[in-house]
Amino acid sequence: MESSVLLYYYGVVLILLIGVMVLNMFWWKPRKMKRYFMEQGIRGPSYMPFIGSLGELAKMYARATPPPSPTPPSHPHHSILPYVFPHLHAWREHYGRAFLYFYGRSPRLQITDPELIKEFTMNPRNFSQSIQHPLVHNLLGKGIVASGGDTWATQRKTLSPYFFMESLKGVSTVAQGAAEEMIQRWSELIGSNEVEIEVLLEFEKVSQCIIAKMLFGNDAEQAMPMLQMQAEQSAISSRSVKSFYIPGFKFFPTSVNRRSKWLRRETERRFDELIERRYRSGGQRDDDWLELMISSRSMSRQQIIDECCTFMIAGSESTNLLLTWACFLLSIHTEWQVRAREELHQVLKGQRPNVETINQLKTLNMIINETLRLYTPLPFVMKIVNEQVKIGNLTIPAGVGVEMPIIAVHHDPKQWGENFDQFDPSRFAEGVSKAAKHPMAYMPFMLGPRICMGMNFALIEAKVVLAMVLQDFTFVISPAYKHDLVFGLSLKPKYGTPLLFHKI
Ligand code: HEM
Repeated sequence: MESSVLLYYYGVVLILLIGVMVLNMFWWKPRKMKRYFMEQGIRGPSYMPFIGSLGELAKMYARATPPPSPTPPSHPHHSILPYVFPHLHAWREHYGRAFLYFYGRSPRLQITDPELIKEFTMNPRNFSQSIQHPLVHNLLGKGIVASGGDTWATQRKTLSPYFFMESLKGVSTVAQGAAEEMIQRWSELIGSNEVEIEVLLEFEKVSQCIIAKMLFGNDAEQAMPMLQMQAEQSAISSRSVKSFYIPGFKFFPTSVNRRSKWLRRETERRFDELIERRYRSGGQRDDDWLELMISSRSMSRQQIIDECCTFMIAGSESTNLLLTWACFLLSIHTEWQVRAREELHQVLKGQRPNVETINQLKTLNMIINETLRLYTPLPFVMKIVNEQVKIGNLTIPAGVGVEMPIIAVHHDPKQWGENFDQFDPSRFAEGVSKAAKHPMAYMPFMLGPRICMGMNFALIEAKVVLAMVLQDFTFVISPAYKHDLVFGLSLKPKYGTPLLFHKI
């Protein structure tokens, strides 16, 4: 046979093979997966080759707008699910509390039953983290949030002592100092007037300052630019995670990619300098976390940088949002401000709060819990199944992304009753395990061995700062406030949170 004819046949076979592979990837496999779950009683929206369920999802997001806020916005509603996560709301209503959809050709199983979430999260070896987007990698590196398996277990063991109660006492002292400085500034600004303050920006500064002090001690001031760079990196990643990632796109020199790379390089360079100075000073410094990491001698320089980058963002953004949402809620439900202030008066008797006295502030605690329920800062967690796993009556094959939308559990009438979308801190009067139908339906820090490491850190910080603000000011919502939210990596007020403050 002539060589050109042979080449022709080879070409045809190759094209056929590629065709079969494409068909398998984009048609047979997803349909097989859909059938597999259907047999287990799990339904979901239809699958379209290449785009999966994304077409339907995009239409829902395009249509989703928040209901108009009353003017003045004295009582914005808290029923946020239908417009912040419209697909979640609509598909839950239609297909039930567990459903399957396709992100492109990747199968995603949503579970909102707390019992299933508890079972799934119990064994972290069953899953790996879902952080695949290169821009998120620039934010967190190979720090603990991004890692899995044995590496994660070692990281968790090494870092856990920083969060023991003894070292958390420092958080309360540092938080008190940072809040005092902020209050001083506000007091000078307010005088005897009523003044509008953008609390989202103010609490960002405070929470950055607190984590910087815990991480870098006396070098905190110098480290502040790195925290701001991480905040910018987080904003870039937040915008990007919503878009569909095309493999290899990170190599394109777009302005976003270039900025993100520059921020990563610059943060690493500054860290390197800081760590180098610490090495040269021979360990004669405070017992801040950076020093603890360096002197443990179990972490490489890159690991230290990655963990610090992780803590800089995990330790400031969510706590900032907790404080912001708590003040927003108190500014419209002012009766709870009065109750919290009365309690502060009775318990603290004019003293500033500390790690011991905050435990006696029951009303403040209920307000924080209710804030974390309604406006949970990290509303969404996803993991990729490593090896087939069984939870409840469900068998989930490897490769499936399991989505656990905390916010949907927190806004589920089945768990919280018909007033699920109302601010009612008293539902936590008997403690978190009795607040909902299922004892674990309240999960702002997630569940299982990968539960947030900084939970106590965040709660101490939030209680100290909020208590001090309540001791010195009354506040109401500003007429400039517009109730809309945006979700990237965390749940933020879209147009900030301007509140009107008055000095007591
Ligand atoms: C209100 C504030 C906070 C909330 C709502 C929150 C929530 C969460 C959630 C839901 C997770 C699980 C994420 C996942 O599995 O994908 C998590 C993990 C984590 N958080 Fe927080 N967090 C807060 C504050 C903090 C603070 C202040 C720190 C550190 C100082 C911190 C450090 C971490 C770390 C290191 C992990 C990863 C733990 C692991 O994978 O083993 N968080 N957080």
